[in-house]
Amino acid sequence: MFAWKRQFSIANTLLKTTTTTTARTMTTATPPSFQVFRDVPPLRQLRRTLLLSNRTVGLVPTMGALHEGHLSLIRQAATENTDIIVSIFVNPTQFGVNEDLSSYPRTWDSDVAKLEALNAELSQQNTSPGRITAILAPTSKVMYPTLPPSSEIDGDGSFVTILPLAKKLEGASRPVFFRGVATVCMKLFNIVNAERAYFGQKDVQQTVVIRRMVQDFHVGTEIRIGETVREEDGLAMSSRNVYLGVRRRGVGLVLYEALRAAEGAYLAGKGGREEVLDAARGVAKRVLDEQSWLGPAERALFEVDYISLADPDSLEELKVIDPAKGAILSAALKMAPLEESKPGEDCGLGDGKVPVRLIDNLIFKPRV
Ligand code: PAF
Repeated sequence: MFAWKRQFSIANTLLKTTTTTTARTMTTATPPSFQVFRDVPPLRQLRRTLLLSNRTVGLVPTMGALHEGHLSLIRQAATENTDIIVSIFVNPTQFGVNEDLSSYPRTWDSDVAKLEALNAELSQQNTSPGRITAILAPTSKVMYPTLPPSSEIDGDGSFVTILPLAKKLEGASRPVFFRGVATVCMKLFNIVNAERAYFGQKDVQQTVVIRRMVQDFHVGTEIRIGETVREEDGLAMSSRNVYLGVRRRGVGLVLYEALRAAEGAYLAGKGGREEVLDAARGVAKRVLDEQSWLGPAERALFEVDYISLADPDSLEELKVIDPAKGAILSAALKMAPLEESKPGEDCGLGDGKVPVRLIDNLIFKPRV
């Protein structure tokens, strides 16, 4: 059956079985290949319909600003499920009070266009069974129905906390981040009740936190991790890269270069913390020195927040890598705002004034 006809038959079943739907109608010339849901009950109705037809659901949670990394997760989900639900929700509780939630890129029209194009690609290829059936784009009030979503560390609300994982690494400088992520993912898992949910390895600590949450709360959704998708030069794709501009983007490659140097040491047989991490630190120092010698209109300065070599399950820092377990090598750096721009320079969204946090990681596979 053609993809859109297939989706329409699901949608018709849905409309026949429910009288109150807040599904938003798309305004494209051709029939939309998926529905957009703003509220929970109609989505649950769809979920029941799919379950009764023995269909399987893959959930791809996102905050929008979709890029190739998200699309590759959807492609992966399409090989393993008949129906894919993509959630688009910029979750306020994972932004700290000093982080600018309002400036997070919101690109609804282009997100929908990318998902439509991907559905067309999936139906043309006909190799994967799955198609995007629905977008869940709830309001904050739907996701946080009783209390306003708080970003305060000791704020009131119903939260999921996964400790001590959430306090480590990213959590050290973003204290509410993983509480917000775990809380919103628990809500999404409860709403969608998917067979599988898909997350990118790029946010490796997030994957460890979500896996732990699913294990500890007996959530019946299997967590699947997709490989980090990179630009040709190695920069990990991220919705925040739009803020970098050309100069900071070029210098930001130091992050991947440093991780690769440490990986080289591991692959060459080294397993001690300092000998592995020194390789990464050396690269970061060299590039920062080079930048410091340049003038303010030429350079892009940065600060390394952490370079971590950690146990893959507990995220405890390792003195020596256990060859049977391998390790997660991860790092974060803060690209400082540009001090001076040149006329006509592409400084990225926000004119180079927005500090940009870059994170990346590599998984060291067990040796045995
Ligand atoms: O990785 C993200 O985009 C977000 O943290 C997630 C998982 C969608 C939760 O808001």
